[in-house]
Amino acid sequence: MNRFVARSLMRGLIDGCEHSRRGISTVREHQSVGALGGFYWTRAMSSVVPGPTTPTVSEKKEKGAEAKKSDETAVVSSYWGVSRPRIKREDGTEWPWNCFMPWESYKADLSIDLQKHHVPKVFLDKVAYRTVKLLRIPTDIFFKRRYGCRAMMLETVAAVPGMVGGMLLHLRSLRKFEHSGGWIKALLEEAENERMHLMTMVELVKPKWYERLLVLTVQGVFFNAYFIAYLLSPKLAHRIVGYLEEEAIHSYTEYLKDITSGAIENVQAPAIAIDYWKLPKDATLEDVVTVIRADEAHHRDVNHFAADIHFQGKDLRDSPAPVGYH
Ligand SMILES: [Fe+2]
Ligand SMILES: [Fe+2]
Repeated sequence: MNRFVARSLMRGLIDGCEHSRRGISTVREHQSVGALGGFYWTRAMSSVVPGPTTPTVSEKKEKGAEAKKSDETAVVSSYWGVSRPRIKREDGTEWPWNCFMPWESYKADLSIDLQKHHVPKVFLDKVAYRTVKLLRIPTDIFFKRRYGCRAMMLETVAAVPGMVGGMLLHLRSLRKFEHSGGWIKALLEEAENERMHLMTMVELVKPKWYERLLVLTVQGVFFNAYFIAYLLSPKLAHRIVGYLEEEAIHSYTEYLKDITSGAIENVQAPAIAIDYWKLPKDATLEDVVTVIRADEAHHRDVNHFAADIHFQGKDLRDSPAPVGYH
């Protein structure tokens, strides 16, 4: 039975990866059409109200081709009338992603201070700092300077704390009939942002079977450890993440050094990254790593800030959360 479950899990993971590879080729086709930027909605239903102007022959052809393509790619014909509305960029090209929407994409704030560091003073800070430094030792031994692989594997862990914290705050809000101050959303946003880092890295580095197995094991351990840590001491949990993010900034800086020196090839940026961070069409791996590093710096600040709120004896909801902080 256990073997069956494990086999199903592995098959699911492999299928998921193949699916994302199919996605990227579709996107590249679209990106050759026009510039990135805004978007608008169209209803994917038969009851579309005609616009004020009569469409030209080429527009009709284009619409026909799009409708045909939509029919070809449709997986399930929904009896319930449920479908994702068709979304387009400002330039009329179709939005190719289901995993994020145009209004979730953004330009990374690269002006953020990458050097900022929280000096551990009190006991819990020191515990958090030492824990992270300790966790770095096996990571350094295992990955050495294989920064692509290292980033991909660590992003599978990095997306966990925001989800755990967000989930626990959500449950607390329900239990106590109180607002969260926006922290549920802020932490879930962080988890989603980290997951997008992973979806990007997986386009650049294909995980091997034993790395997938390692992820399963690490996720099982880390999720439970962080869950318990957050229940016992949210201030410790947020401080640990703050220091993990400081380490992530360091790792991505080393990654950039290897790209600059030519040790790692500066390949074309994956299509998903170009859309998510609104990068230019000719963006490269260096641009992608630069924006991911900026994201990590933002997560560092948010988590140290959350830990500081707890250290001041307050609840997170006492201070408005930095929702949409990138
Ligand atoms: Fe990340
Ligand atoms: Fe991170």
